[in-house]
Amino acid sequence: MENTTTQKPYIIVFEGIDGSGKSTQINIVYELLKDKNVKLLREPGSTEIGEKIRDILKSQKLDPKTQTFLIEASRAHMIENHLKGFKGIVLLDRFIYSTIAYQGYGFGIDISFLKTLNDFVCDIYTPDIVFLLDIDPKTALKRLKREKDVFENLDFLKRVRDGYLELAKEYSFYTIDASKNVEAITDEITAVLKQHGILS
Ligand SMILES: Nc1ncnc2c1ncn2[C@@H]1O[C@H](COP(=O)(O)OP(=O)(O)OP(=O)(O)O)[C@@H](O)[C@H]1O
Ligand SMILES: [Mg+2]
Repeated sequence: MENTTTQKPYIIVFEGIDGSGKSTQINIVYELLKDKNVKLLREPGSTEIGEKIRDILKSQKLDPKTQTFLIEASRAHMIENHLKGFKGIVLLDRFIYSTIAYQGYGFGIDISFLKTLNDFVCDIYTPDIVFLLDIDPKTALKRLKREKDVFENLDFLKRVRDGYLELAKEYSFYTIDASKNVEAITDEITAVLKQHGILS
């Protein structure tokens, strides 16, 4: 496994709009990696405080500035508690690009400011591999049978999706057509992980 620095974990991020299949795929990958030193984390969340922040964000319509700082606080707390000093593999269900896509492209917060905030909070804990599960918002929303939360409406998710596609170009994500079936998507992901020496 290649790792440019021994001081940080190997960070693999799953991004995409609501209902794109991130949690489905990350759980499959977690199972495939379970004999290794691996942690499965999600944003916002992953710590007691982070999960409280997640509940707040999901249950009410907060202004985007407040959202941003709550998310960054959850991120800082997760990094401090789970990433610092850990040298294994971290699988992350959403990370810094969600903030740029949702609060930036979706809600209009200045994107360069969000990048600065992300850099400040992440420090050396930057992603090694990013998978973008790309899907048409209509298809994604149809998949979500549960009650929709405050982020889940069509026009908003269209902006978020377009934002993700911009970011994919900028940061060389592995963009996957998430309208395919679960197995086909897993095959694409595992091929990339093999290429990087994470899976044999
Ligand atoms: N490739 C797929 N084809 C069809 N249905 C899928 C696929 N992947 C996941 N699903 C189903 O779509 C729904 C949403 O998937 P999942 O929860 O993995 O998405 P998510 O990206 O984690 O969403 P959220 O951002 O809301 O957490 C689930 O019911 C899941 O079983
Ligand atoms: Mg999910």
